[in-house]
Amino acid sequence: MTQDKLDRRAREILIANDRGGYTVPNGRVYPFQWNWDSAFVSMGFAAFDAARGWREIETLFAGQWEDGFLPHIVFWKDDAGYFPGPAVWATGHTPPTSGITQPPVAASAVRALWERGDQARFRPHLERLFPKLLAWHRWIARVRDPLGQGLAVIVHPWESGRDNSPEWDGPSELIDTSRVGSYERRDTSHLDQSMRPTKLDYDRYVALVQFGRALGWNHERIGQESPFRVVDVGTTMILLRANRDLLALAEVLQCRAEAEELRRSVARAENGISWLWNERVGAYCSRDLITGESADVVTSASFLSFYAGVRNEDRDRRLLEHLERIGRRVKYLVPSLDPVSTRFDSIRYWRGPVWAVINYLIGSGLTAAGHAQWGERIRADTGKLLEQAGMYEYFCPLTGRGIGGDDFSWTAAVWLHWARGVERDSAHAVSGAGP
Ligand code: DGY
Repeated sequence: MTQDKLDRRAREILIANDRGGYTVPNGRVYPFQWNWDSAFVSMGFAAFDAARGWREIETLFAGQWEDGFLPHIVFWKDDAGYFPGPAVWATGHTPPTSGITQPPVAASAVRALWERGDQARFRPHLERLFPKLLAWHRWIARVRDPLGQGLAVIVHPWESGRDNSPEWDGPSELIDTSRVGSYERRDTSHLDQSMRPTKLDYDRYVALVQFGRALGWNHERIGQESPFRVVDVGTTMILLRANRDLLALAEVLQCRAEAEELRRSVARAENGISWLWNERVGAYCSRDLITGESADVVTSASFLSFYAGVRNEDRDRRLLEHLERIGRRVKYLVPSLDPVSTRFDSIRYWRGPVWAVINYLIGSGLTAAGHAQWGERIRADTGKLLEQAGMYEYFCPLTGRGIGGDDFSWTAAVWLHWARGVERDSAHAVSGAGP
């Protein structure tokens, strides 16, 4: 397919998945508005309709709770094709939402929209969104950073966005599934079971939803009492980058006190991040807050340190060695799990497949960090996958086969914003990068 055809196809997908101000990731499998999906989608829309890009984020924030919490799903319209729907979450919020959050990509998306668009026209949009973004980041700092080190804790694997990553296997053992009862999964009626999380994974997901609901979605209590509390390397790196981007926006708006607050958040995380470095593995790994144990495995999230602007010569070298080693074992970078792991499964969701959005974060991060050859290799691999297989949810790193949902919004968005190549160097420089 030519670049023009791919551009057209990606635009068609976003337009077809637009439900009027918000975009569903895929109409069958995910029929609502998802938090981090919308952040990526906004950047895709901005490639051909800047106003629609801003609207995606504004609609997402219409689901924000008063205390700043930004849910991972906003259920604008009910749909029986998805489980668990709004009645299961029972958050009592209007509009109905889930009770957990997702990686905070939105501030970085807003910075990208701001920097590529007509600034005079969109300044009022930025002024309205800035306090909402800040409120969300403050909520994360208050409720999800118990160590006070800028390290983000997740209380549900879904909060990581990397639902069944092996990073959660150990910590999930503490989740009691004995009272989950019966429920009907809908994902496996749309997609083959072999591409999705297992029954045990789902029992644990449902048990944690029931746990939050039983606590009336009191996030302070959930953050202290949940049987699943893990410092997620992915969310932490994305948050650090998002704080840098929000800082840049605070400076644009001349919000001095807020800029100072964000500078402190960035500095805290730059110091705190070492807690996630696993010297034995030679990579940043998620770490169980309850037991202190490291996940002990290289995942695609380990490479997000470049995107976060975390710089350390020795660690960067070791990460690049991993990338090189992994690149020799797979046809397409970056598999979600190190292929030497015994838990690697090339088609099962976050236990092997390549995801275009993570490739965007890793690839643009590597380029911004001065490793353009690697950034370019990952961008080229992403382009090849989309061109050969279509705009799928995820891809087999060994064969390139498209897996999961087809015509996937964030994959189309990543094509338009980054993988097509024209924008490849536009990933804005990470301001205030670390040591
Ligand atoms: C799902 O339902 O698979 C989602 O990832 C949860 O957000």
